[in-house]
Amino acid sequence: MIAQPPAPARRLAQVQTPVIPVMGELIRQTPGTLSLGQGMVGWGPPEQALGAVQRALHNPGQLHVYGPMAGDPELRAAVQAWLEQQHRIDCSGSAVLITAGSNMAFNAVAQVLCDPGDELILPVPYYFNHAMAIRLAGGIPVAVEAGVIPDPDQLAAAITPRTRAIVTISPNNPSGAVLPQPVLAAINRLCAQRGLLHISDEAYGLFSYGAEEPWSPGSGPGSGAHTISLGSLSKSHGMAGWRLGWAVVPQGWMAELAKVQDTILIGPPRLNQQAALGALAAGPQWCRQRIAGLAQGRGQVLDALDQPGAPWRLLAPADGAFYALLQLDSPLNGDEAMARLIREHRVALVSGSSFGLGGCCLRLSYGMLQAEALQEALQRLTQGLLELSR
Ligand SMILES: Cc1ncc(COP(=O)(O)O)c(C=O)c1O
Repeated sequence: MIAQPPAPARRLAQVQTPVIPVMGELIRQTPGTLSLGQGMVGWGPPEQALGAVQRALHNPGQLHVYGPMAGDPELRAAVQAWLEQQHRIDCSGSAVLITAGSNMAFNAVAQVLCDPGDELILPVPYYFNHAMAIRLAGGIPVAVEAGVIPDPDQLAAAITPRTRAIVTISPNNPSGAVLPQPVLAAINRLCAQRGLLHISDEAYGLFSYGAEEPWSPGSGPGSGAHTISLGSLSKSHGMAGWRLGWAVVPQGWMAELAKVQDTILIGPPRLNQQAALGALAAGPQWCRQRIAGLAQGRGQVLDALDQPGAPWRLLAPADGAFYALLQLDSPLNGDEAMARLIREHRVALVSGSSFGLGGCCLRLSYGMLQAEALQEALQRLTQGLLELSR
């Protein structure tokens, strides 16, 4: 007799099913779908990144052996210089950990932070992979509805003796909001006063189009002792597939993070680190020019959605990242609306339920499509939304 293999650990039942593969499968089943779904940009890496890879391949040196756990020193220094110059992050008391994408950095931090039952506060809407990583680490993501621009007092009211950190994302996925500096500074102060970490996800740190400039909580004087800044080349440098990100952490955290990183990754892939060095050498203007090009798509989105009396509304001004978050008057939930928009209207958006939103909410990304393709997708979308609202 053959016995049943063991069941998966019970905590996996608390981890949501990743929405992007679900959406991807629906798109595959519906040929001709235009995607306003996945959060990616339409450009690839700078020439300098590809040149650096070619040079490394011709002269591999240490490429084939394990590298340092926290990343190659040249890249750690280049990332630090980038963060000091572009985001004014004060790295003096901090250390840079290079990871295979910033999701991995968040995961490592959650592993180090959580004993079973420890709580991390996630303002709603949150990024689904944050909630998933906290669950995987045995912690509890505490979703707090404190407004799309989170009210620090409401976040303070959610603090319990088990709270370890507050997570913010600015510019925000999924809302596109750029959180104002005073709000982020108040949350950062709150964390300092209450003995919490402020985990600041800055994957979209260069992406803004409105009056509000993105601001890094790690740039406040003395904030490095209680602030973790996460970042990545995935969006700004069109390098999502290269898996290159980082965490800036208080120095004292490195010894414990090393346990996670050494177990999961040993060290970041060395060829990709060469690519990253090349990419950073292209300078901020390279990124800023491309990001400025997204403003046209953003304009198309805002124009298409600006219809008096329409049964939808934007939940936040779409001033940053490349997202707009919609709420539709509809009896459907977000998952149902996502499936029907793809199947019946051949346009893909991501369900808001994966970001902790009730009702019928959908996230639109204008990072990938341009000009006529974007116009066609928006035409399908507004038509579809009208039908789904009935
Ligand atoms: C807020 C946020 N953080 C992190 C990530 C993941 O980025 P990376 O590719 O660096 O893992 C994303 C990707 O969409 C994101 O939206």
